[in-house]
Amino acid sequence: MKTFKTRQAIRKYLNEHPQLSVGFAPTMGALHNGHLSLIKRSKSENDITVCSIFVNPTQFNDPADLEKYPRPIEADMAKLESAGCDILFAPEVSEMYDDNEQWHLDIGPVEHLLEGEFRPGHYQGVMQIVFKLLDVVKPHNLYMGQKDYQQFLVVQRMVELLNLQVDMVMCPIEREADGLAMSSRNVHLSDTERKRALVLSKTLNYIKDHFDVSREAELEEQAMEMLAAEEGVEPEYFRIVDGKTLYPATPASTSVVALTAAKVGKTRLIDNVLIY
Ligand code: PAF
Repeated sequence: MKTFKTRQAIRKYLNEHPQLSVGFAPTMGALHNGHLSLIKRSKSENDITVCSIFVNPTQFNDPADLEKYPRPIEADMAKLESAGCDILFAPEVSEMYDDNEQWHLDIGPVEHLLEGEFRPGHYQGVMQIVFKLLDVVKPHNLYMGQKDYQQFLVVQRMVELLNLQVDMVMCPIEREADGLAMSSRNVHLSDTERKRALVLSKTLNYIKDHFDVSREAELEEQAMEMLAAEEGVEPEYFRIVDGKTLYPATPASTSVVALTAAKVGKTRLIDNVLIY
């Protein structure tokens, strides 16, 4: 695997291989099997696979969260090597941002619902960095996880509105054997908290099994009660929404997704399930 730290160096390398198709998986490191599934999918569909590791400061609302975000770079590199990743792009913050960048994009409501209510500005930071990374890597295919379903829609809307030349591929959530969605934040959970966190996937599955579009509000309320009943778990939201707009699902919705966020101890987790 080749590692590049500057935009210029990775661009020079990719420019030397213009005939090869490029797949790209942006990450913030602390890699788990969810990330590696993006790499594997990209490898099966492209000539070259690029992964970026960059803990993006502009998408953190809480400086303490940024500070404690895990950064196991050596272990990450070993995982990428064994997954067969071709290129790692791991820039410093100063390589990606000027001191005082203020620009933002108005992509409409999809940014402001759900996570947007609880993490204002978060998706502006995501769009800034994904835009900059796409500009550097210029991939044919962009691989992102279903785990942050709203993030996928936000980036998809940005790609549409700016007419960026990239195809987006959503890869399914990878779960531990007991159902816990893989997340870089899971390392912060104590053994007890980890067991308590299972209430997220259990509640999502319960709602999927009992879904009825005419009982949506009632089911959301029931799900919030199920989450809150677990000791040490503080639910932020549980919503059943149209998979394209993130507005409440209607009988006309062609895809429906249930999404939740909850604090387990001090760790904030998100999870979701596609109902159809
Ligand atoms: O999903 C993530 O890990 C990040 O939000 C992303 C897409 C790498 C942007 O920093």
